[in-house]
Amino acid sequence: MTGDRPAPSSRPAAGRQPADSDTAWWRRAVIYQVYPRSFADSNGDGIGDLPGLLSRLDYLASLGVDAVWISPFYRSPQDDNGYDISDYQDVDPMFGTLADVDALIAGLHERGMKLIIDVVLNHTSDEHPWFTESRSSKDSPKRDWYWWRPARDGLPAGSPGAEPTNWRSFFSPSAWQLDEATGEYYLHLFSVRQPDLNWENPEVRGALYAMLRWWLDRGVDGFRMDVINMVSKRLPLRDGPPLPGGDGYGDGWASFISGPRIHEFLRELHAEVIAGRDGAPLTVGEMPGVSLDDAAVFTDPASAEVDMVFQFEHVELDRDPSDRLAVRPLRLTSLKASLARWQAGLATAGWNSLYFGNHDQPRAVSRYGSADPAHREASAKLLATVLHLHRGTPYVYQGEELGMTNYPFASADEIADIESRHYYRQAVDAGQDPAQALAALRRRSRDNARTPMQWDASPHAGFTTGTPWLPVNPNYPGINAAAQAGDQDSVLSYYRRLIALRHDLPVVAEGDFTLLLPGDERIWAFTRRLGATELLVVANLSDGPAEDGIPAGRDWAAAELLLSNYPPPAAATLVLRAWEARVYRRSGRAQPPVG
Ligand code: NOJ
Repeated sequence: MTGDRPAPSSRPAAGRQPADSDTAWWRRAVIYQVYPRSFADSNGDGIGDLPGLLSRLDYLASLGVDAVWISPFYRSPQDDNGYDISDYQDVDPMFGTLADVDALIAGLHERGMKLIIDVVLNHTSDEHPWFTESRSSKDSPKRDWYWWRPARDGLPAGSPGAEPTNWRSFFSPSAWQLDEATGEYYLHLFSVRQPDLNWENPEVRGALYAMLRWWLDRGVDGFRMDVINMVSKRLPLRDGPPLPGGDGYGDGWASFISGPRIHEFLRELHAEVIAGRDGAPLTVGEMPGVSLDDAAVFTDPASAEVDMVFQFEHVELDRDPSDRLAVRPLRLTSLKASLARWQAGLATAGWNSLYFGNHDQPRAVSRYGSADPAHREASAKLLATVLHLHRGTPYVYQGEELGMTNYPFASADEIADIESRHYYRQAVDAGQDPAQALAALRRRSRDNARTPMQWDASPHAGFTTGTPWLPVNPNYPGINAAAQAGDQDSVLSYYRRLIALRHDLPVVAEGDFTLLLPGDERIWAFTRRLGATELLVVANLSDGPAEDGIPAGRDWAAAELLLSNYPPPAAATLVLRAWEARVYRRSGRAQPPVG
């Protein structure tokens, strides 16, 4: 049961093929992320594919989203599930063909949705012809397309500590790999099979820009750019401060996060690829470690760099900075303060992207809500309400709209993810109890988000007729799209209403934001205001009733209840039930925007 529902809306003109003048369609949009490997399998090989996705476009249209961001489908050895690309301009046979991408573009456009593709510009696969050419000899014309360095002065190549810098990689101990044939090391911030491209070389940038233009010419509507704030390295490459663990590795972060030429490179990319294009292609840069100050510059339209960034502050709050597997308690006050800080920081120029989940994060409901069957649905709806009512562009990660949960991994062998396997091995090698390391993976592993989409109650949740590449969450008979589609009280139906609300009410997209009750550890409350319209969002993130305590807000109880994840309260009260979320609207005198 829910409170008053906004009338189902048609998608606004902004979500259809945009008029040329509609340069900021994404400010009123909701974007859905598809991880193709885990979305829908059409041929029974256990791996999701593009024809599978094509067969589900009506589902996405009925959700009401404006655009789909699809994780990489390019040719790839799949060392990092496609984030290791060996041909940017072809589709991996596991996923389909270029004709399937054309059909996807057409199918989305027919339904008024756009396609955002995921481009990995910081590194390629070691099987990319650019890299095989580069590694072939020190004299290769493409040698300088990647980062090659000799062994550290005075040490023979391959000896302990001879790596050119002490940086630790995200997916392996050292960020440098010795290439025996030429006796030099190449840089790989991620796996040994993901060598970093050298953006200092203008030919590299030119080749990447040409590739991006080729995709726009083919009809895609924008790019999600993988770890794009790592492409400018600070020269000369130097050792970083030693990391805890005493294994000699250091933190190279300061040498490659938002490096000295990053703004220049992104401006150049924008000028070479985006400027002057019809339809205002969207650019969203994934930026680990990005500061708010930098994000304000990156996303200020006057900078002409990117439209928005994925920042990481709020998803790092429950991580131990010295041990990526270790979990530290998350305080609601820190989480809401972090989001509010970004709301304020990007209020006048720039723009926020809003997300709790993606293919790299555990399931939002298990992490920030409650996966307890008594509270799962309410908390999934609550999290969606809070996130989507912030100012910015919300992203829905596949299955989030069903309230999908983390997977109950019983053994480390069930985990396929390269990052999880690396950290598990590292923890166990360092003497950690394997049971403890597994418990951490259960909460942390990226595979929590990558188990197959739960379509229905048939075997393997209707994801495949074969054996899924990753097991389906055993809770699929109760949590699946078919069960929720016709149920007005389901999480899925709630997402539809929430997405429609953004389309229907300008205040949701554009209103200013004020956090209330910043010190409250149970209530997340804020207002939004645009002209004479004001919204109050109030949510109880706890298993018991809670009074909101909004001091000057008593009159809100009599305001119009626009949306709620519970039946409307019997009396006008702001006492909230467990995991209850409400959105109220009232109109008053127009007030000048805060800021
Ligand atoms: C970020 C992507 O989201 C993640 O899945 C990938 O492993 C790394 N970048 C490396 O490309």
